[in-house]
Amino acid sequence: MSAQDSDSLEQQILSDIDAATDLAALDAVRVAALGKKGSVSALLKTLGGMSPEERQINGPKFNQLRDRLAQAIETRKAVLEGAALQARLASETVDVTLPTQNDPLLTGRIHPVSQVMDEVSAIFADMGFDVAEGPDIETDFYNFTALNIPEAHPARQMHDTFYFPPDEAGDRLLLRTHTSPVQVRTMEAGDAPFRFIAPGRTYRCDSDQTHTPMFHQVEGLVIDETTHLGHLKWTLEAFLAAFFEVDNVAIRLRPSYFPFTEPSMEIDMQCHLDGARLVVGEGVDWMEIGGSGMVHPAVLNYAGIDATRLQGFAFGMGLDRLAMLKYGMPDLRAFFDADLRWLKHYGFLPLDVPGLTGGLSNRQMAGQ
Ligand code: PHE
Repeated sequence: MSAQDSDSLEQQILSDIDAATDLAALDAVRVAALGKKGSVSALLKTLGGMSPEERQINGPKFNQLRDRLAQAIETRKAVLEGAALQARLASETVDVTLPTQNDPLLTGRIHPVSQVMDEVSAIFADMGFDVAEGPDIETDFYNFTALNIPEAHPARQMHDTFYFPPDEAGDRLLLRTHTSPVQVRTMEAGDAPFRFIAPGRTYRCDSDQTHTPMFHQVEGLVIDETTHLGHLKWTLEAFLAAFFEVDNVAIRLRPSYFPFTEPSMEIDMQCHLDGARLVVGEGVDWMEIGGSGMVHPAVLNYAGIDATRLQGFAFGMGLDRLAMLKYGMPDLRAFFDADLRWLKHYGFLPLDVPGLTGGLSNRQMAGQ
């Protein structure tokens, strides 16, 4: 091989190195030149057939050529690796300044009933009430008997109860018709004094514009040695003023009958209609929002409480009714239609958590 030949071989390989645009192509050039069967290796092999004089000249020359090419390949490799890294960085870039899309916190909605349950719980928690719970599927005992509604009592018919099929003994479970069974369950499980609310689902076989087969109530119970009707009246007035976010709400306790309270009273709330808008805490109209009374000694006895020493009041209010009145929703049935347009309009943003410190009225309905 002449010096000419090795020069042009070097030029050829150098231009191949330059032309390699990715690491795989560059490696192919390397193998073709410096690999065992590569062109430079072949060139080096020609040294063996040369005279000592020729070899003395060409030996260092070819070796230097090989080293230059190896160096050129390394240099090119570094360039290509840098470019590959840049390309990868570019393709994986996240622009953290972009606005988030379809943020679940902005698209999701809290149902008004859940919101109102939280509001009611926040207000009563502030007054020192616990929150108690009981099962939706109840026994006849807790829903009726322990609440002083014996078998064949007409109040059982009044409740339009959903019953499950009877078991072998003829006992039927039922869907609780009110939250009052939680009174007995909670008193049984704890020690006096008691001060709790029990919000939850209730069921009656009934359906029209203001009744649905499933609805919500909030029960309230205070039992100690001295609690009397005056405390009940104050508690309800304070609750309603806080809930409707007005200074005062007068209530009217109208004599009524519940087997589990004595005396028993219907709770009416002061209001008036301003056009189609209901204004609470003013005017001369009254709106019924629940029942109440002093807990009947028979109920205390069923719950294992000494009724000669302890006494107190209970109330039960319709949560859906409270939600409708506060947020101006005209038809109760829409609450449970699962219509996303309705929920978008009347629902609440998940971060609008009601609380007395943040202010109940800090909330905006999401649809507005
Ligand atoms: N449980 C009654 C109802 O559903 C309401 C009530 C609760 C009345 C507590 C008095 C005391 O109608």
